[in-house]
Amino acid sequence: MGPTALCTLALVVVWITHWVYRWRNPRCNGQLPPGSMGLPLVGETIQFFTPTTSSDIPPFIKKRIDRYGPVFRTSLVGQPIIITTDPEFSYFVFQEEGKLFQSWYPATFVEILGKQNMGALHGILHKCLKNMALNLFGPESLKKMLPAVEQAACRNLKRWSSQESVELKEASASMIFDLSAKKLISYNRKESSEDLRDCFAAFIKGLISFPLDIPGTAYHECLQGRKKAMRMLKNQLQKRREKRSEQQSDFFDYVLEELERADTILTEEIALDLMFVLLFASFETTSLAITMATKFLLENPLALKELTEEHEEILRRRENSNSGFTWKEYKSMKFTFQLINETVRMANIAPGIFRKTLEDIKFQGYTIPAGWFVMVCPPAVHMNPAKYKDPLQFNPKRWEGMELTGASKHFMAFGGGMRFCLGTDFAKVQMAVFLHCLVTKYRWKAIKGGEIVRTPGLTFPNGFHVQFSEKNEFQQDQTINCTSDAALKK
Ligand code: HEM
Ligand SMILES: *[C@@H]1O[C@H](CO)[C@@H](O)[C@H](O)[C@H]1NC(C)=O
Ligand SMILES: *[C@@H]1O[C@H](CO)[C@@H](O)[C@H](O)[C@H]1NC(C)=O
Repeated sequence: MGPTALCTLALVVVWITHWVYRWRNPRCNGQLPPGSMGLPLVGETIQFFTPTTSSDIPPFIKKRIDRYGPVFRTSLVGQPIIITTDPEFSYFVFQEEGKLFQSWYPATFVEILGKQNMGALHGILHKCLKNMALNLFGPESLKKMLPAVEQAACRNLKRWSSQESVELKEASASMIFDLSAKKLISYNRKESSEDLRDCFAAFIKGLISFPLDIPGTAYHECLQGRKKAMRMLKNQLQKRREKRSEQQSDFFDYVLEELERADTILTEEIALDLMFVLLFASFETTSLAITMATKFLLENPLALKELTEEHEEILRRRENSNSGFTWKEYKSMKFTFQLINETVRMANIAPGIFRKTLEDIKFQGYTIPAGWFVMVCPPAVHMNPAKYKDPLQFNPKRWEGMELTGASKHFMAFGGGMRFCLGTDFAKVQMAVFLHCLVTKYRWKAIKGGEIVRTPGLTFPNGFHVQFSEKNEFQQDQTINCTSDAALKK
């Protein structure tokens, strides 16, 4: 080996050593939170994505809390990231949205959900979209939606009970999708030549897949689905423009009105991305919550008994046993809301919420450099035995009086701060009404599956096959009639 080659080799070695050193010790104007950056480039990605089926704090997180404390650093897919399991700091991260932190999603999310989707927009545009969406999913609108939600739940349960079994996550996702699609764009699957729901098949898999856009990959399927859905939405918008209806009948009309205002900041692209993300966010999350509630009820006969009593009491109090579910009844269901809280606490449907720092953040003597990613970890907060006694126990009663003890910092199933989930009330209405029909009219048993697969960044069900059957005739006469036409005519 000549001297030049030796020299080059030495330089390469020095460079690599320096690079590895920098990798393990990122630059920081202060002291970084403790933690390990793992292997060069790969970081701790592989450990992070190791799936478990326990509903407890993921082992990846638990180990590092023990070793480093509640806030630690790591590296995922080549990016340095801070993981927070500390309720106070997580709350701070939510509150400082738009100031010290900004919502951030991986590149695959942005490609699939749209570059201009609400999660990727900030400031005034974000506020404008949020207001528009709340017009659709806020309490006033939900009140009007109640009969349709009830009818959908009853009709679907009836159909499921005539089948051998149903995969519940899939079945309830379709139920909710149909409702949202109707509300958003008056879409009716039976009357449409194209199946919009199909565009969203296998979506979750694509969101966290390797971004390789070639036929056969989950990512490719997802992008194709998005393209098809966006084409349909665009066509719809075009048709609507040509034939304007006199009064607002769905969200599309409302968006069109907004688009036509002279001073609007809304563009057609943003509006279409908004439709797309609302469709997606509404059914994937709530269907998992409904599936989990059904599963928890099977495993907890006492909770089922109390829930059934609450709903049978509602029926008994009605003057006309065939009248539909009212808003007043909805608001009165104390135990049901405790059960919903407990379900979403344990389900941890969004196990990681991502942000990016906009400037250096000082926290308890540590510094998080500007431009770093931060992951808030709700499971660590929801499964903390210091706040929730026997956290793995499904116990709706624990919510009794919880409002008074500053529960909000310890409950972040729907996020927090400015980006707090705008579908919270919609999800709760869906769940409550579904549970009402379920416990008053049906029995069910698990046939197969029901396991939830978790990584610190993702929760997905592995198939839960359930058999539904109507309660016996005698009981049914007492417990009334969900399919009440009277309610629908209102
Ligand atoms: C049980 C059901 C649900 C759960 C657990 C859930 C969870 C969440 C969480 C944790 C966030 C915060 C994300 C962040 O801070 O980055 C969020 C935001 C959001 N959710 Fe939900 N969600 C549910 C249902 C829904 C429904 C039914 C809709 C649609 C109607 C919806 C639409 C949205 C939207 C559009 C955002 C973004 C809000 C923003 O960026 O300001 N979600 N959701
Ligand atoms: C459910 O949790 C929220 C957030 O902490 C709380 O405000 C609400 O009171 C809880 N509901 C019940 C019935 O405990
Ligand atoms: C339920 O309501 C429908 C329509 O109002 C009625 O035809 C049917 O007999 C009712 N069933 C029961 C069990 O009350």
